[in-house]
Amino acid sequence: MATTDKTQQDAEKLAAALAAVKFVKDGDVVGLGTGSTTTFAIKELGKRVKEGLKIKAAASSIRTEELAKSLGIEMLDLGRLSKIDISIDGADEFTESLDLIKGGGGALFREKIIASLSQNAIIITDASKKVKKLGAFTVPVEVIPLAYQYVFDQINKLGGKGILRSIGDKTFITDNGNLIIDADFGLIDDPAKLSSDLNQINGLLAHGLFINITSKVIMSEGADIII
Ligand code: 5RP
Repeated sequence: MATTDKTQQDAEKLAAALAAVKFVKDGDVVGLGTGSTTTFAIKELGKRVKEGLKIKAAASSIRTEELAKSLGIEMLDLGRLSKIDISIDGADEFTESLDLIKGGGGALFREKIIASLSQNAIIITDASKKVKKLGAFTVPVEVIPLAYQYVFDQINKLGGKGILRSIGDKTFITDNGNLIIDADFGLIDDPAKLSSDLNQINGLLAHGLFINITSKVIMSEGADIII
């Protein structure tokens, strides 16, 4: 991506983040996603907290937790919550019907828990993430290590080509101590069916298809905010 494109994309991410933070009210428990777009929102929330906004938050990853704490945001244990008022997170792809692929940053399991707990699950994106059909971005699948080969083979039976995620020559390990298989299903005709088929696989902890879970996508495109 050329530098100007990156600058434009960052400006769009920031604009979407600022628009989302406006929905956060005093007293809210806020779910914090993971990734470069969400980082803009967390930094803005940190500023607002310094100005007096009273919130508590729960994080979808260790890096988000550390960032939020460093900005003075009071953090709660996600595992103890039965409701989140509002969450703000990014996505790798989204469609008009608000179906998503998430997990490019490997935080999909906790992100899905946060979205499931949220009364208002807001996704923030730049314009590059909007697609007609999901699937150009591979579907991340978090798998418990001892079930790796089994899950890999089941994905294959569903028509997916899996690759074990690594960074350089190191296998990627999630915050939960698990592996990620990035599964290429091609363009997905029926994401709800694929989501439910994947949910049947034993040893598969979570996958990156987020279906019927998003309340709102805030997309920024050029100077426009589209909600
Ligand atoms: C992390 C995610 C992110 O929200 C997704 O990858 C988008 O990231 P970015 O805002 O950096 O483009 O799902 O697991």
